[in-house]
Amino acid sequence: MSEIKIRKVEARDLKRYKKLSDDENWNIEMDIFEKMLETNPNGFWCAVELSSNQVVSFCGAVDIGNNRAVLSTFITVPICRGKGIGSLVLKKVMESFKGFEMIVNASDGREPLYARFGMPHWMYQALQIICEPLESHS
Ligand SMILES: CC(C)(COP(=O)(O)OP(=O)(O)OC[C@H]1O[C@@H](n2cnc3c(N)ncnc32)[C@H](O)[C@@H]1OP(=O)(O)O)[C@@H](O)C(=O)NCCC(=O)NCCS
Repeated sequence: MSEIKIRKVEARDLKRYKKLSDDENWNIEMDIFEKMLETNPNGFWCAVELSSNQVVSFCGAVDIGNNRAVLSTFITVPICRGKGIGSLVLKKVMESFKGFEMIVNASDGREPLYARFGMPHWMYQALQIICEPLESHS
């Protein structure tokens, strides 16, 4: 594996983030990526492959108030999967939400992966919009 640097996601990375998510048919529009990053500038992390200077993995979480965050949009470039890069990025996201209760917006079948990161309990839902708790507006 070539050398990897983990850093925060920046606005200039969002085009690539969206491209990777489009390749998975996630159907997430650019304005959603922009809003997620704007409102959670410390919550989105990525892995840069130093030899190519390309971002090869992304993950982030959104603060929904009351010490809870929703983890979402975890993705690694297909040829770089299975090398431990995604786990490094996910770990960084988890560290940046230390003390938060994490909620995962994940695909069916990914339970073992998130269980390894301390999220062993599951519920299943099919919503794309999550209401922000009222208390966080105060
Ligand atoms: C899930 C994903 C982000 C993991 O990234 P990664 O860089 O491969 O992560 P790691 O190499 O650190 O592996 C972490 C786990 O990912 C899963 N994984 C690894 N390679 C994979 C592959 N080629 N395809 C699918 N999942 C894979 C495994 O569960 C692995 O756990 P293990 O080491 O116990 O087997 C990546 O496989 C991916 O982009 N998949 C498609 C998008 C997706 O499903 N995202 C998650 C939505 S819930």
